[in-house]
Amino acid sequence: MRLAPGTGRDVDLGRVDLFDLDLYTSGNPHAVWDVMRAKAPLHHQVLPDGREFWSVTRYDDVCRVLGDHREFTSERGTVVTHLGEDDVAAGRLMTSTDPPRHTEVRRAIGSRLTARAVARWEGPIREAIVRFLQPALDGGTFDLAERALLLPALVTGPVLGIPERDWEELVQLTAMVTAPSDPHFQHGSEAATLAISHHELVTYVTEWVRRRRRTGGEDGSLLDHLMSVHAGNAPMTDEEIALNGYSVLLGANVTTPHTISGTVHTLIERPEQFEKAQADLSLVPNLVEEGLRWTSPACNFMRYAVQDTRIGGGTIPAGGAAVAWIGSANRDEDQFPDPHGFDITRSGAKRQIAFGFGPHFCIGAPLARLTLRVLFEELLQRFGAIDLAGEPQHLRSYFIAGMTHLPVVAQKRKTS
Ligand code: HEM
Repeated sequence: MRLAPGTGRDVDLGRVDLFDLDLYTSGNPHAVWDVMRAKAPLHHQVLPDGREFWSVTRYDDVCRVLGDHREFTSERGTVVTHLGEDDVAAGRLMTSTDPPRHTEVRRAIGSRLTARAVARWEGPIREAIVRFLQPALDGGTFDLAERALLLPALVTGPVLGIPERDWEELVQLTAMVTAPSDPHFQHGSEAATLAISHHELVTYVTEWVRRRRRTGGEDGSLLDHLMSVHAGNAPMTDEEIALNGYSVLLGANVTTPHTISGTVHTLIERPEQFEKAQADLSLVPNLVEEGLRWTSPACNFMRYAVQDTRIGGGTIPAGGAAVAWIGSANRDEDQFPDPHGFDITRSGAKRQIAFGFGPHFCIGAPLARLTLRVLFEELLQRFGAIDLAGEPQHLRSYFIAGMTHLPVVAQKRKTS
């Protein structure tokens, strides 16, 4: 998805189709969201098959939809690719569960993913990132977006407890779940791609758990932890472990790579920002926040209105699907002055909501922030300059904003 709106585009909101995949590959969603925020903060769309949804695009409305489960429930599903199909895993999969059960499961899983808990992984993560960046400095073209898809494998594989040999396949399967219409990942129809990948991923975690129960042993990994931890008064069932293991795998794989490629692309286009960061590495944490705001790789999440609900100057009827456009909220001019400017010294960049808001706020945020900080620290110290070596290609998805190709050529930084 293009990350800057361009200029002078007329947008006719009556004709806008937010599910048009071309909008995200060759079009310009930011130009559309700008007009939605200004003129139609609650926007209603009916798809040709009769399914309908209501979009909110302003920062405060997006936070309200994501943050208040009494008004907007997660229990019927939260991912727009499943619009209109009730989630069969509701109440067992953390993402499709409302408090109070959600709080119990989340507390159990989250204790291994706090900033303090993930800090002990910084050394191995740094080593993995240095290995990842090294081939970019051999003088040839390096497809950063394509390569970055494998980075979470190197980083989160050990945290989760999944051997590196399985990661390539898992990366492919998680990409199929989130971008089932992208030709890079599609297997037959969109519905078939979704069904196959979901089934394979849940089966993978189920088998992992069965094997571990048979063989015993522990490696301190997150999946081991899920097998022993209590949520509320009881251990999680094997089904809950499989579904939540799947959810963590998905969250880990499909987002961070797109923040990396989108932020690097932006730094290539704005060399003065690249130089500023190189001159002062203490700016890296803010660069990461601005990169998250700028890329917002989880472009939206969905809820269903519990009852008729007034929001954005209109009403979402009871049972109506509410799509909260995170990518738009992170460019809301009322929150972020000059929202389409990329500024690594922006004050208030930390108010970005790329990780969501409220009870379902990304449980992997500390790990993602650590990964991104280390990646930019290493990249800025090693790379002298980065140039584009071809046209970027955008992911064909209205759920995940990202790139499939970003060919670059990098030079080693000269040491003085
Ligand atoms: C740049 C990286 C990431 C971004 C932008 C991101 C974005 C998000 C967002 C927006 C949500 C909220 C969903 C909702 O409100 O329904 C979320 C939830 C979640 N994320 Fe992430 N994520 C990232 C990295 C990760 C990583 C590294 C992991 C795993 C280690 C992860 C696992 C999860 C899980 C399991 C949830 C569900 C939490 C819950 O329902 O309480 N994410 N993420």
